[in-house]
Amino acid sequence: MRISIVGSGYVGLVTGACLAEMGNDVLCVDTDASKIRLLSAGSIPIYEPGLPELVERNSAAGRLRFTTDFASSIAHGLIIFIAVGTPAAEDGSADLQHVLAVADKVGSLLTDYRVIVNKSTVPVGTADRVQAQIGMRLSERGVQTRFAVASNPEFLKEGAAIDDFMRPDRVVIGSEDDEAISLLRSLYAPFTRNHDRLHVMDVRSAELTKYAANAMLATRISFVNDLARLAEKVGADIELVRRGIGSDRRIGTHFLYAGAGYGGSCFPKDVRALVHTGREYGIDLEVLTAVDRVNHRQKRILADKVVSRFGEQLNGRTLAIWGLAFKPETDDMREAPSLVVLEELVKRGARVQAYDPIAATAAQRLVAHLSGVNFVSDRMRAVEGADALLVMTEWREFRSPELTALKKLLRSPIIFDGRNLFEPSTMAAGGFEYYAVGRGDTLPERPSELVP
Ligand code: UDX
Repeated sequence: MRISIVGSGYVGLVTGACLAEMGNDVLCVDTDASKIRLLSAGSIPIYEPGLPELVERNSAAGRLRFTTDFASSIAHGLIIFIAVGTPAAEDGSADLQHVLAVADKVGSLLTDYRVIVNKSTVPVGTADRVQAQIGMRLSERGVQTRFAVASNPEFLKEGAAIDDFMRPDRVVIGSEDDEAISLLRSLYAPFTRNHDRLHVMDVRSAELTKYAANAMLATRISFVNDLARLAEKVGADIELVRRGIGSDRRIGTHFLYAGAGYGGSCFPKDVRALVHTGREYGIDLEVLTAVDRVNHRQKRILADKVVSRFGEQLNGRTLAIWGLAFKPETDDMREAPSLVVLEELVKRGARVQAYDPIAATAAQRLVAHLSGVNFVSDRMRAVEGADALLVMTEWREFRSPELTALKKLLRSPIIFDGRNLFEPSTMAAGGFEYYAVGRGDTLPERPSELVP
């Protein structure tokens, strides 16, 4: 099938490459000429495991092409995916200017039947706005053609996006146009094997499904993080509690890991956007308001623990940070908890030695305004002479540290673990003072007395 993808960002690129892999003829368009030049030359501007190989293979086969020529992409694709950014506006709502600009251009160029599919995460009602915008342009031009606007939200996880696309838990299609539904059904047939993973519904339900999924997952995380605070106070271990409740099939163990808070391009933005949509309709989404508030607090958790341990002033202290990305297997720094912690530590006078296997360059740009942050290229160099180690991202290479070497390099054997990577008993046996999240490690109320 001939497919066009508008927007060669994370979602557009993964969608384009995976659809080409199934034999479709895919044309990706983007206004950013330098990005298109890079992609045409086989260079991928984002870090996503498996994506470079997929792009290379399908480009070589001539099934995946890149252009800046919008008109040719409208002529090419029977299905046109909109995968442009929907950044958060000042008030937390999703900024739809890019999506509506695409709709406007589509309306100015369309001559015969096309299915326009919203892949970007957009508030409920956006498909109707896209439909209206295209319709308005068509009638201005006096062109009479049928077209359909559908919603097909993405559920990709960064770092596992190719696998998520190739083997989806579900594919959601929102449309009331029979021809569009049948085209999208056949496009996704190779991915869903049989159709029981394919959910066809009205457009507004599809749009809300995307937000509801992310909001539910974010809620689980904030729920467990809130509980982790209590676990520390009552001397319980949140990891055991997680397993205890997770064995109930109605609950399950996923997305119940306590930690330094959720970040990334989706959860924080989508939770706030949904709360905003609620307000627009006079509905106060109280649970989600709390989810966002809890996460705000949670992102500071390691900085707060450091202050409880070392005192308000951190002048003369050096702290090592392992991991900066909002999660492993990505160089994405958007809304990463490490940014909040870095800011807080530096503000209090600490020097920081930071290491991340992939995200350091992106992080460096974001904290260029902070003095006293030194990015190093090796995890052991980061801990040299540090007063403590903070683990912010659960990269695999951090999971089994050489404890003896670590102890030798650190000025004092103290670890603040924002991802609960280690067993408290192992750490204690290794002679470490170990602070995790929600694992019965309450710091005393008068931290200054404990400073070594
Ligand atoms: C998420 C959704 O999973 C995906 O379906 C949607 O399309 C986009 O948003 P992503 O942002 O890539 O994907 O990351 P995800 O793996 O879901 O993690 C989000 C954040 O939650 C990370 O910061 C992670 O560290 C945190 N998290 C996740 C926890 O703190 N605890 C958990 O148990 C799980």
